[in-house]
Amino acid sequence: MKKIIFKTLSVVLFSIVLFSCTSRTPKDLLKESIIPKPVSVVATNSSFVLSETTAIYYQSSSEELKDIGNYLAEIFNPSTGYNIQVQSTDQSPGKGNIYLELSEQADMNDEGYTINITEDLLTISGKPEGIFRGVQTLRQLLPAKIEDKSIQEGPWEIATGTITDKPSYGYRGAMLDVARHFFTVDEVKRYIDLLAIYKLNTLHLHLSDDQGWRIEIKSWPNLTTYGGSTEVGGESGGFYTQDQYKELVSYAQGRFITIIPEIDMPGHTNAALASYAELNCDGKARELYTETEVGFSTLCTDKEITYQFIDDVVRELAEITPGPYIHIGGDESHVTPLEDYIPFVNRVQEIVVKHGKKVLGWDEIALSTLVQDAVVQYWAKAENAQKGVEQGAKVLISPAIKTYLDMQYDSTTKWGLHWAAYIEVDDAYNWDPAELAPGVVKENILGVESPMWSETLTNIKEVEYMAFPRILCNAEVAWTEKPDRNWDEFKIRLGKQCARFDALNINYFPSTKVPWH
Ligand code: ACM
Repeated sequence: MKKIIFKTLSVVLFSIVLFSCTSRTPKDLLKESIIPKPVSVVATNSSFVLSETTAIYYQSSSEELKDIGNYLAEIFNPSTGYNIQVQSTDQSPGKGNIYLELSEQADMNDEGYTINITEDLLTISGKPEGIFRGVQTLRQLLPAKIEDKSIQEGPWEIATGTITDKPSYGYRGAMLDVARHFFTVDEVKRYIDLLAIYKLNTLHLHLSDDQGWRIEIKSWPNLTTYGGSTEVGGESGGFYTQDQYKELVSYAQGRFITIIPEIDMPGHTNAALASYAELNCDGKARELYTETEVGFSTLCTDKEITYQFIDDVVRELAEITPGPYIHIGGDESHVTPLEDYIPFVNRVQEIVVKHGKKVLGWDEIALSTLVQDAVVQYWAKAENAQKGVEQGAKVLISPAIKTYLDMQYDSTTKWGLHWAAYIEVDDAYNWDPAELAPGVVKENILGVESPMWSETLTNIKEVEYMAFPRILCNAEVAWTEKPDRNWDEFKIRLGKQCARFDALNINYFPSTKVPWH
C-alpha cells in the first residue's frame, strides 16, 4: 500500500515538474510595439515558442506562399541557428508550427491579414500580399535580435492573441532619386528590404534628371553611356541595364513592392540633352551637368523627334515594368513656356496610355488635360492637387514640408537640404493626408509617398540616416486610420525600434524627441 501511495505521489510530482517545464511565459500582446499600428489587437496572455522543431507550413501548394515562407525562414534561421523547414500542407499543422493560410475575408482588402497566435500554433491568414504584410508584424512580435545575422540566444517567445489588420491607404510608397547620385543594385535592394518591414508597397525610382540618365534604353544608347557617366560633384555615375532593372523589379515583387519608373520631362532633362543634340531646339548638345540647380533644361517641345524619343523610352520602359504606372515627372519646367508645356504633357500622356500604362506625374501636370486614371503627385502646390481632383484624378500625397526625407531634421543635420522645411520626427508624424488641401479628401487620395532626393546623399547609409526613423512616421500615417494615431503613444513604440534598427544595422537619426530604449 505504502509503495502504491509513493508511486502515485511520484507520478503526480513528476507531472507537476513536467507541466511547469512546458507551461508558457505569460506575455501581453497589447504591450508589443508594432509599427505601423494595427487595426485590432486582442491579447490572451500566454506565449507561442519558436523552437528548433518549428516548421513553416503553407496552404495548398501555393507558390506565392512558399516564397513568403522561405523569406520568413531566411529571417529566422541566421539568428535562431535553427534550420526551419518550409512545407506545403492541406490541413492545419500540428503543435509548435507556423501556418500561412489563404483566406478571403469579406471586409479585408488584398493587404489585410489576421494573425492568430495560440500556445500551439501561429497562423497568418489572408491573401498572399496580406500574409506578407502579416509576416512583417510577426517579425516585430519577436525580440529585435531575431533580425541579427549571427546566432543569438532565445527563447523566441511570441505573445498569444489575435491581430486583425488592414491599411488605410492602398499606396504607401517611397521614392529614391538615383539620378543626382547613382545607387547600385545592391543598395536599392537594401532599401527595398527596409521599406518592406514597415509595410510600404511601392518604390518610385527617379531614373533621369539633369545630372544623369540611369536606365538603359536600347534604341537611344548614349543616354546611359554618356548621359549616365557622371553625377552631382563630378564623380563617375552609373546606370541600370534593363536586366538589372528587371532584377530590381523581381526583387521588389518578392516583397510585394511595385516599382514605378520615372522619366522626368520636359524639364530636368539635361542628361538627355547632352546625350543627343537633336533633342535641343538649337540642335546643339548640352554639356554634362554635375551641380544642383534646377529648372534650366527643357526638351524641345515642338520638334517631332522629341515625341519619337519619348515613345521609344516609354515603350522600352513599359515592356520591363509590370506595375501599372509610368511617372512622367513634369515638375519645375521653368524654361518651358506654359503654352508649350500643356500640349507637351497632353501628348506624353497619350504615349503612356498607348503603351498600356497609367500616368503619374508631379502636381504641375494638373495644368494639362489629364487622361483617365492619371494620378497627380502633390508635392508643392495644393491648387494643382485641387485641379487634379476637379478633373477626376486621384492624388498621391507627398508634400515636401512633411514627406521629403532629404529635408534636414534640424540645422545641425549633416546631410540633406532645408529649402522646404526642417522636418523633425514629430513633424513627419503629426499630419493627415486628407487635411492638407480643401477639396482633397480621402476618396480622392491614392496614398502617401516619401521622396528621397539625392543632391547631397552619396550612398545608402546616408539615405538610411535621412529615412530612419521618419519613414516609419509616414508609413503609419498611410497605414493607420487617423483616430488611432497619436504622437505621444507612437513615440514610445518608435523608441523601442532602436534595438531592431541596430540588429538590422540601420543608420538612423537618434532624435531627442523620441524616448529611445
Ligand atoms: C520636386 O521636388 N521637384 C518634385
